[in-house]
Amino acid sequence: MPPDWPEYRGEPLRLGVLASGKGSNFTAIVQAIGAGKLPAIVTGVVYNNPEAPVRERAKEAGVPCALINHRDYPDRESFDAAIVQTLQRWGAEWVIMAGWMRQATTVLLEPFGSRILNIHPSLLPSFPGTRAVEQALAAGVKITGCTVHRVILAVDQGPIIAQAAVPVLPGDTVATLHARIQEQEHRLYPPAILWAAVQE
Ligand code: GAR
Repeated sequence: MPPDWPEYRGEPLRLGVLASGKGSNFTAIVQAIGAGKLPAIVTGVVYNNPEAPVRERAKEAGVPCALINHRDYPDRESFDAAIVQTLQRWGAEWVIMAGWMRQATTVLLEPFGSRILNIHPSLLPSFPGTRAVEQALAAGVKITGCTVHRVILAVDQGPIIAQAAVPVLPGDTVATLHARIQEQEHRLYPPAILWAAVQE
């Protein structure tokens, strides 16, 4: 069952997206905006990996994008400071982590408060961190899924906004299971962003 959409009467949300990889969640968000379901504007996408396919997706969608490569910074704080500067230049009011594989510091968290969201490919608090899908398979769980949560300093431990369950099927590999989790992520993230906004 697709998740419900809350009623929202405010100004369009100004979203700054952080992505490290493929960008399919970014595209799901852009499509939900285009379909008139998510009242929001993607002000820009920051990506940290020069090879990340999300760059092409952003270009196709006509969304500004900026490469901020963590390898160019001496520490996580100065990396986050560069991200904050870019997001603020774009006028972003929300930070949407969509496959963002860097750990946030207070430098990124403080300016945006509770307006930082992440999507994670497990039913948190199970299987935090990297390799969540691999961990779920190794543990032999019969149901896993995905979680949208607010970001706090402790990795993958912020307040949960929404979750979707995905059954683990016999013969599943990390790839097949992750593909089905991603289908749910794409349905879950856009309405969860709006739920986070109405919960403020
Ligand atoms: C998603 O499955 C997301 O849940 C995961 O990375 C993938 C990004 O896909 N995030 C994490 O593992 C964060 N710890 P995408 O680039 O196609 O949106």
